[in-house]
Order: sequence, then structure tokens, then C-alpha cells
Amino acid sequence: MTLKRIGILTGGGDCTGMNAVIRGITRVAVFQHGCEVIGIEQGFDGLIFNRYQELTTIGTREILSLGGTILGTTNKGNPFSYREFDENGAIRERDYSQQAVDNFNRLKLDCLFVIGGDGTLQIAYKFFEMGIPVIGIPKTIDNDLEGTDYTFGFQTATQVVCDALDRLHTTGRSHQRVMILEVMGRDAGWIALEAGIAGRAHIILIPEIPYQMAKVLEKIKLRQGGGSHYNIIVVAEGAREVGYSEITLESATTRLQGIKQYGGVGNYLAEQISREIDLEVRCTVLGHTQRGGTPTCFDRVLGTRLGTYAVQAAVDGKFGNMVALKTPDISLVSLKTLAGIVRKIPLTSQLIVCAEQTRISLGR
Ligand code: F6P
Repeated sequence: MTLKRIGILTGGGDCTGMNAVIRGITRVAVFQHGCEVIGIEQGFDGLIFNRYQELTTIGTREILSLGGTILGTTNKGNPFSYREFDENGAIRERDYSQQAVDNFNRLKLDCLFVIGGDGTLQIAYKFFEMGIPVIGIPKTIDNDLEGTDYTFGFQTATQVVCDALDRLHTTGRSHQRVMILEVMGRDAGWIALEAGIAGRAHIILIPEIPYQMAKVLEKIKLRQGGGSHYNIIVVAEGAREVGYSEITLESATTRLQGIKQYGGVGNYLAEQISREIDLEVRCTVLGHTQRGGTPTCFDRVLGTRLGTYAVQAAVDGKFGNMVALKTPDISLVSLKTLAGIVRKIPLTSQLIVCAEQTRISLGR
């Protein structure tokens, strides 16, 4: 089909590489198809409340190496159940989906490119069912999306973690301390495991393998017995001890917005270890540093490839699909098949075998 005017939006938590996609789509759309490109602002909010900007090749030429998203994003504005305050100050949920569809039609867009993670892509699919021609582009630092080998943002995040681990080694060794690094990833341990292997962690705790405290202590004591009085532990925010659930933060916003926010397992672990072992323990929580900064080369290339391929998919009329990395190619995966699936590390994964064969303890 001929594309005359297209829309792009970015939803969910930001990550590096989103701007690479925006730039890639814009360049192909303008240079190859002479198309107008509209950037919808702050995720689906922009579609609901009519906030957008025109994107040009000149305006997007500097953004390839820029973290975040120039369009802004949100991980709470679900148009199908939008949480807002009513006139009495109470929280209510409202369905803005038809308003978003009407605005899409008013903008006279031929299609909508939605760059997002699991939640955003599920919403995108619902809009596809309501008649919006949608192409999805997967993103997340967590790397937990079904249907694609890797998501952009993940590699940059693991590099941040790896760099932090290199630093924790020198200070931990100097003080003979147990250094714990809590990292993101929600219910999947990809960041912890890959960065932990790269950063020479002694213990890596991931959500897929509930840890036994006794095994963690055993590893520390084993190292002490061998004359190594410091330990580097990477713990994924969604990791949990056998018999317990994961640790979440209960903040005012979490309660109001109904979003589960992980956090606290690193300090919990620190407390547990310091009660049992005569070594000082320190915990570092990397938090959102993992999401920001300059994208790695891999994430820039992946974002650009997905963006350019997405335009071709739209020209071919392949709506309702997501562009995905199936190494070495980019291909299409139906958005329908992804709904709600979190891609965790399979317990049979060679990554797990590799970690344990190199004597990293996974707490089991
Ligand atoms: O999904 C990406 C992610 O960074 C998770 O790893 C993390 O749990 C969550 O988002 C943090 O979300 P927020 O930015 O809302 O604190």
C-alpha cells in the first residue's frame, strides 16, 4: 500500500534504542516513500488527548545515539482502563479507546507504529482489533518478550551492570566485603545472568530459580575457605527465596496506579547474610541507570533494523504483527500470539549451564 502519513508512538518504560527506531522509520518513510511522519507524544496519552509533533529527517538526525525517547512515554496510561481522579478526588477507571481511535482517524494516519514492551503491545493489538493498522516494535531492557531473540535496550543495560560489577570487584576485594548488586528485569533474570557472567559474579540469583539461603552462605564460606574473603553477588529484583514471594515496594503511587514495583531484595539479602557471616556486606541498587545513557552499537543497529523493516511491513500491509529479531534476520510475528507471555530464562538454558559450569552459584 502507499503510505502518505504515518504515526509513531513509544509506550512503557523507556530504554535505549527507541530513538534509533524513530529515526529509522522516519528516514525510510520520508526518503523512500515521501511520507509525512507524526510522532504521538507520551505513549497512548498523546492519541487520547491529541498531543503530537511532526517528525522530519533533519529533526531526527541527531537522535541515534540518544537514550530515552524523544516522544516521551508512560507505563501507566492504558486507554482501555485509564486511571484518573474524579471530581471528588477518588480514583476511577475510564475507557478512552474509542476517543483514541477517533483521533487516529482525524489525523488521517495510514498506520501506527507502536514501540513498546509486553503491556504496550497488548494494547496495540486491541487497537488493531478496533481497526487501527498497527505494526509493533518490541523494546525492553528486561529482554522478556516472546517472539524475538533479543530486545534493544537489553544490551545497553547489561553493559551498565557489567561496568558496575567491574567497579564493585575492586572495592569489594580491598575491603573484603560481600558486595550485592540489585538489578532490574522484573520477572526474568536475563540482565542478572548475562551481566553476572560477564562481570565475574560469584553468585547470581534470578527469579527463575528461587534461591536457598543455605546455598548462598555455603558459597561464601567455600570462598572464605579458599582464602577469598570477598564476594560479588548479582540479584535480580524479582528473585525470591525458596518458600517466599518476591519483594515489592509499596509506595503511594504503586497503590494508586495499581503497578507492581519490585525493589528491596538486595537489602533483604544483605541483612540475611550479615546475620550469618562475619564479613561486612554492602548493597548497591543500580535502578534506572540501567535504562538511561548512550545505546550500545548493538542496540542502535537493532533499533534501526527494526524501524526500517517495520516500514516495509506496513507497505506490504502486514498489520497486526510485530517485527522481531530471529537471528540473523528480522521477521514478523503476530501480535496475537504474544499476549501476556513473559519470556523467562528456560531452566534448560545453556546460559544457566554455562554459569554453573564456571562455578557461579545460582543459589541452589
Ligand atoms: O520493564 C522495565 C523496567 O525497567 C523493569 O526492569 C523495572 O522493574 C521497571 O521497568 C521499573 O519501572 P519504573 O520506571 O516505573 O520504576
